[in-house]
Amino acid sequence: MKVWLASLFLCALVVKNSEGGNVLGASDESNCGCQNGGVCVSYKYFSRIHRCSCPKKFQGEHCEIDTSKTCYHGNGHSYRGKANTDTKGRPCLAWNAPAVLQKTYNAHRPDALSLGLGKHNYCRNPDNQRRPWCYVQIGLKQFVQECMVHDCSLSKKPSSAVDQQGFQCGQKALRPRFKIVGGEFTNVENQPWFATIYQKNSGGAPPFFKCGGSLISPCWVASAAHCFIHHPKKENYVVYLGQSKRNSYNPGEMKFEVEQLIFHEDFSEESLGYRNDIALLKIRTSTGQCAQPSRSIQTICLPPRFGDAPVGSDCEITGFGQESHPDYLFPMNLKMSVVKLISHEECKQPHYYGSEINYKVLCAADPEWKTDACHGDSGGPLICNIDGRLTLSGIVSWGEGCAKKNKPGVYTRVSSFLRWIQSHIGEENGLAF
Ligand code: ARG
Repeated sequence: MKVWLASLFLCALVVKNSEGGNVLGASDESNCGCQNGGVCVSYKYFSRIHRCSCPKKFQGEHCEIDTSKTCYHGNGHSYRGKANTDTKGRPCLAWNAPAVLQKTYNAHRPDALSLGLGKHNYCRNPDNQRRPWCYVQIGLKQFVQECMVHDCSLSKKPSSAVDQQGFQCGQKALRPRFKIVGGEFTNVENQPWFATIYQKNSGGAPPFFKCGGSLISPCWVASAAHCFIHHPKKENYVVYLGQSKRNSYNPGEMKFEVEQLIFHEDFSEESLGYRNDIALLKIRTSTGQCAQPSRSIQTICLPPRFGDAPVGSDCEITGFGQESHPDYLFPMNLKMSVVKLISHEECKQPHYYGSEINYKVLCAADPEWKTDACHGDSGGPLICNIDGRLTLSGIVSWGEGCAKKNKPGVYTRVSSFLRWIQSHIGEENGLAF
């Protein structure tokens, strides 16, 4: 029965153009109000039913949602992108949710479409507040909360503090087309912000490889808290920049001691993974220097305030982690791979990770589950292109197995920790925004 109805429905598809002109003879009163070049489609045997068929980047009943917009202009009154969490990462309520229908701004207002409100939970600014917002359920009440989406004009500003020290965050000294996809060996010049962190051995044996990290300002490396929490003394660690090959000398490398080791105060180990899995290492050479820029040493940009790359974006991961799981060897050469960002909704499905996922992490995976971060990659970068600049969007944190079906890699969502990072590093340290 279900099958029959569906096929009748499909066969009866009739296309109209957006001005309402008939292509294959549906009724004339139809006007879908399709925006952004959407085409009105109706069904011959259900001719009262119309919908918009949208061009690639647009979605929604009227093609009013612009999936390519990752930031807002002005106060965001015309923002029609898909950000849907508040600045603390809490999920927005849909504009047609029962609790929201009692509020002033909801999907049932006569002017809802022109304000961008509909059957979705994307951030909007219908009443010209400072920036896009949404209603968020906090306890028993719904509150207006500003959203995690950034102002387009801020992300384009060059960071003078960084340039002064000769760093240009996110810039590779390689030809721009140079790119390796799919779990390949790479060179640190292709990931010049990559830091290799070793733990010293008490017995005089050489330090052993511990975790990855990312240079976010000349004196600071960001990594995962779980790498250090069991041996929390800074004297235990040594950090290298510019290493393509671990445990060996690389021309152009720099070696650092850890001057400060800071964990997130709310770091915790949960049943499957971690919460607030972020740490900062202040680095200095034996002569008291911070990092110096070169072909193989560079900072990585931090995400703009409240900014992430859109779901489905390709992002790069890098590390010396295991090549398969279970395995007991770590590769000697740096590897990188490309994974796609996955929505929180998908990652929270019961057969993925269910309630282990909160909005302070990002999930990413290969659509065919063929490549992933793995044991030993922890602390390393998840690099996404945000508005044309390479950005540290995530920090490798956990995952069940490696490249296992329905078990994406889970990354600390750096955009949720900007204030924390800033409170420890301070802007005067040339943070690479
Ligand atoms: N916690 C792991 C480590 O110690 C990182 C695992 C990442 N796993 C994954 N499947 N993405 O290195």
